[in-house]
Amino acid sequence: MKKVTLHDKHFEPFIGAAELAAAIDVVAEKVAAKYADNVPLFLGVLNGSYFFASELMKRLPITCEISFVKVASYHGTVSSGTVSQLIGLQERIAGRHVVVVEDIVDTGNTIEHIVEALREKSPASIAIASLLLKPDVYKKDIPVDFVAMEIPNIFVVGSGLDHDGLGRNLPGIYRIVNN
Ligand code: IMP
Ligand code: MG
Repeated sequence: MKKVTLHDKHFEPFIGAAELAAAIDVVAEKVAAKYADNVPLFLGVLNGSYFFASELMKRLPITCEISFVKVASYHGTVSSGTVSQLIGLQERIAGRHVVVVEDIVDTGNTIEHIVEALREKSPASIAIASLLLKPDVYKKDIPVDFVAMEIPNIFVVGSGLDHDGLGRNLPGIYRIVNN
């Protein structure tokens, strides 16, 4: 792995693909153990979660369902600021054990919106599984139940994560070089 340039920014290797895969092995075992008997519904948040969702699914020897949603953010006409909407959700949520699959939890604003929207649909339970978590930034009360790796408060790309659309295909995780 070597340095890459995406748009105007430079990135250097941070977490290797093998190390990341080993971390996903561990978290997948925890997910499998928890949901062995209740046919969970995994809901990947596009676009970033495609990599982790796929890597997680192929490690789960349990009966489960996977679907994907998008979060659209727009500024509403009311003064309350940004409004978020879940797009593409067609599955029945009531009574299901739902696991939201994310690429990264940073401030947690995104998962907070998703969890609020899902709660209205009366699931049996909601959990969050994220490839990465920035614990120094995340201050919400919602538990992030399954995390492959915790990282410091730096901007990263690779394995689904992008900088303005680029870098999702990079193997492993790259960190921004500040210079
Ligand atoms: P949050 O709402 O602040 O938790 O941020 C969640 C979203 O911001 C993620 O799903 C990513 O799309 C994006 N994001 C946060 N941190 C990073 C990063 O370090 N690299 C790339 N995208 C990020
Ligand atoms: Mg994202």
